[in-house]
Amino acid sequence: MKTITIISFLVALSFKGYAQELLINVDNRTTKSLNGQWDIIIDPLENGYYNFHLKEHAEGTKKAFFSDGRPSDKSELLEYSFDTGEKLHVPGDWNSQKEKLLFYEGTVWYRRKFNYKLPENKRLFIYFGAVNYEAIVYLNGKKIGEHTGGFTPFNFEISDVVKQGENSLVVKVDNKRKKDAIPTTMLDWWNYGGINRRVLLIEEEQTFIRDYHVQLANDSFNEIRGWIQLDGEARQQSVTLNIAEADVHKTVNTNSDGYAKFAMKANLDLWSPENPKLYPVKISSATDTIRDEIGFRSIQVAGTQILLNGSPIYLRGICLHEEAPTREGRAYSHEDAQILLNWAKELNCNYVRLAHYPHNEYMTRLADRMGLLVWSEIPVYWALQWDKPEVFNNASRQLKDMISRDKNKASIIIWSLANETPESDARNTFLHSLAKQARLQDPTRLISAALLHGKAEGVIRVDDPIGEFLDVLGCNEYTGWYGDMDPELFNVKWETKYRKPMIMSELGAGALQGFHADPDTRWSEEFQSNVYKHQFPMLDSISFLSGISPWILKDFRSARRPLPVFQDYYNRKGLISEYGEKKDAFFLLQEYYNKKQREKDIRLWQLKEFISPGYQGLKIIGSPKIVEGPFGAAVYFDGENDAYFLDENPVQGLDEFTIEMLFKPETGGDREQRVLHIGSVGGDRLLLETRLTGEGNWYMDSYIKSRDAHCVLKSSDYLHPLDQWYHMALVVEKGTIKNYVNGKLELEGKVEDLKPIYGGRTSVGVRQNKVFWFKGTIASFKITPKALKGDELNRI
Ligand code: GCU
Repeated sequence: MKTITIISFLVALSFKGYAQELLINVDNRTTKSLNGQWDIIIDPLENGYYNFHLKEHAEGTKKAFFSDGRPSDKSELLEYSFDTGEKLHVPGDWNSQKEKLLFYEGTVWYRRKFNYKLPENKRLFIYFGAVNYEAIVYLNGKKIGEHTGGFTPFNFEISDVVKQGENSLVVKVDNKRKKDAIPTTMLDWWNYGGINRRVLLIEEEQTFIRDYHVQLANDSFNEIRGWIQLDGEARQQSVTLNIAEADVHKTVNTNSDGYAKFAMKANLDLWSPENPKLYPVKISSATDTIRDEIGFRSIQVAGTQILLNGSPIYLRGICLHEEAPTREGRAYSHEDAQILLNWAKELNCNYVRLAHYPHNEYMTRLADRMGLLVWSEIPVYWALQWDKPEVFNNASRQLKDMISRDKNKASIIIWSLANETPESDARNTFLHSLAKQARLQDPTRLISAALLHGKAEGVIRVDDPIGEFLDVLGCNEYTGWYGDMDPELFNVKWETKYRKPMIMSELGAGALQGFHADPDTRWSEEFQSNVYKHQFPMLDSISFLSGISPWILKDFRSARRPLPVFQDYYNRKGLISEYGEKKDAFFLLQEYYNKKQREKDIRLWQLKEFISPGYQGLKIIGSPKIVEGPFGAAVYFDGENDAYFLDENPVQGLDEFTIEMLFKPETGGDREQRVLHIGSVGGDRLLLETRLTGEGNWYMDSYIKSRDAHCVLKSSDYLHPLDQWYHMALVVEKGTIKNYVNGKLELEGKVEDLKPIYGGRTSVGVRQNKVFWFKGTIASFKITPKALKGDELNRI
């Protein structure tokens, strides 16, 4: 399925009365909430929509429930009424609000009356956070539009339909499961039907800022890149992006489609779980202004590592469903999100997997504020009808809307395309196209999916063909639960043909909270704990594992789990019961995460302390080992997974300084290796680079070259054999640059030589964010803010 087809399909959709292009960041728009009690009619036969011959009622037909009709006199027959009927709270599912609707799957009609006075020069939209599963929306008896998919937002413009005064809004909601739906008919969560998230009226200017993307550019720590989309007649305008705290003030002009791109450098305090820094952002055009709070962080993969802001991160996670923490049914409020994420924090998580569908926006906004990294997923779950174009289009639309709503949330690091889907050519093509679409729409985040694994001769393999086009492998494993709880089963090797990081996206066991017995008794808390105790050492043994998200934070409803007493239609793999009571395994995982965090902190501290005590700018990639060097601790980099870089110029503003390195470069390694990179700050010319060259037998040399011309201006012409220790000192003073190797001057140049092409003063500095892949051992890396002389330079 070619990518182009996807885009043309998505555009086509908006012309068919399907939901229009999404308004993002509704929290910061002019809104009126329609939450509250709505009048309803339960209509299992869809009698309000079809006549007895299954013909759809035409608009204006009084019999149709969407007409919200009333008998015009005492003799007229009308067999429905919203006025005297039942009510349901919106937002909220119907299954948990009315005992009789617990298992109900079918149509329910919702009606909400509202008064509105739309000012002359304004536009009005109706916005739904989510409606499960199919929604058809009517205003004053007129069909506004329809939407499919239970977990993504949608909106319609109603400027020409809204009346000045009382309006009748009617929504036909149907949550019947279907084979060609997404999710399909078999699922392990409750199919909560209803208007499950908030409903808003949104008032906008004639031309307003509908959408924007403001994030760090890929692989950058200081370049903000993005775009702005206006909606309305006056599409060509100048638009300004302000991030006052970061001293960013950028004005761009939108084109005839109301679209403009931008890119600028900024000195940013990067967002992370330890420092969930959000910047107030203001975007204003001649006719509109919108504010937001946005964090900036970089997320990348390197070898089998996931890098947050350039440093390897271990994801201490937990999975959760969007179920309310302290009552039955769907979670939908800020308070619900707060309690659920507080529990995750209490576990000492730095990461959550929101399964198996996009959760409400309160959840992702709060994750931004609380510093929790997020895996967000579309419900491509188990066995879909992969070869049906309409099924693909549905998935593609849900993916687009998931990304669209949350693309400015720093907390979200991974878009997941699927969960436990069976391998087939049609499925592989389906998911490959979704991966391409996701990368096109948002090149700044990682793509993953929760895969199943194979097992042969004591080796568990994660070789699913779609791993090819994922950045991160997710794998669900239930060692010790599905099958025997035999400790031997955990004594297994994990392998994959992919050089990629893996997250164990699910693992765990069930237990009925409060049921205690010996560890071999299923459903006891002891059994669950025993599984976790055996999981931890196995997980620690997997070299390419970058994190875990056990299944699951809280017991949740599922029609797949009817076992009386122990399940009662609950999946019991939660670490907390449906009443909020913690199971023993909750504290086991908490302890394991505390240990993981302590380990990480110690290792990082050791590395930083040894390289340049107190220096914060050095970032480590991979997990280089601490080894014995000539003068005590040293660091060994394997040149493949391990590297280092500086995210700030340690000699910023210094005219005089010395950088010394004591290192032993080794032969081998599969790429050109660099030891140090000195460049002209702001200029395009390069000063000094020490690198290892030469096929087969490697040599170290250093030279000055001009970046733009790529020609070597000066080279030391000293080719040093590898596998021996070198002391290198770069000394900058009074406009000269000298490079000494083992105390011998090998290269000399003038700072002036570096005059940047675009003018301005030249100064030299360490090239920022340039990753140094180096194979060998570094015993010291020292920066002295003055020019060292004579003997000081030939210590070896
Ligand atoms: C699966 C699936 C979950 C399910 C869980 C379980 O892996 O992804 O949705 O609830 O296993 O069996 O409990």
